[in-house]
Amino acid sequence: SGTIPVITIDGPSASGKGTVAQIVARRLAYHYLDSGALYRLVALVAIRSNTDCANESAITNLALHLDVNFDGSSVRLNGEDVSDALRSEQCSKLASIIAGQSAVRAALLQRQRAFRQSPGLVTDGRDMGSAVFPDASLKIFLTASAEERARRRYKQLIEKGINANMQSILQDIYERDTRDSNRDISPLRQEVDAKLLDTTFLSIEDAVNEVLRLHNAVCKN
Ligand code: CDP
Ligand code: CDP
Repeated sequence: SGTIPVITIDGPSASGKGTVAQIVARRLAYHYLDSGALYRLVALVAIRSNTDCANESAITNLALHLDVNFDGSSVRLNGEDVSDALRSEQCSKLASIIAGQSAVRAALLQRQRAFRQSPGLVTDGRDMGSAVFPDASLKIFLTASAEERARRRYKQLIEKGINANMQSILQDIYERDTRDSNRDISPLRQEVDAKLLDTTFLSIEDAVNEVLRLHNAVCKN
């Protein structure tokens, strides 16, 4: 068909979605969208502007007026590199809280769909295959055990020289999994047409190759 291919990679926190999606995008020379960054950006702007996160219309207004630029692996907000600020625990938590607001999700919808450009797109998040690109050419549900995901996040933080506590990371993962899976709108779950990829015992390279293999199989049809 004449539509531009999209590979969606949805799954819980620290399962490796972003890492795998970026490598797959590079291998295919496709565009890449980190949809979680958009929710984190809204959270960051809310924190900085002291906006009450329960004020849905105010938060939606922030989402509609985000001035954001993705270049390579860095994210710019009004020209400022906020890549590190977006990864803070406060931002992660607030992102998942505002992500439960339907008007906020609606405000980010067109912005996400605009990333579907030739020759193709690889994108990761929670609802990319279910709500944003329901007609995606390949849908992956990437997961790993909560303990393994906590170990990965812990290692990531320690390597960056950031103090981390395994118990509180695991606690945060459970909390965010629960909130993301139980919300009314666009909850995190495996779609019937999504392929399950459990990476608990899989290397990044193996996960990337499996996504590429599935993509090639779809392209031949
Ligand atoms: O995007 P998401 O939150 O799902 O995870 P990520 O930030 O891409 O990955 C979390 C960490 O797990 C990174 O440091 C990866 O290098 C590591 N990792 C992985 O992604 N996949 C594996 N199979 C093993 C480790
Ligand atoms: O990297 P990690 O998986 O920890 O988080 P993320 O993908 O950056 O997403 C941060 C938060 O944004 C998630 O906990 C979700 O609540 C929300 N999110 C969402 O609701 N829908 C998406 N497509 C992406 C993220």
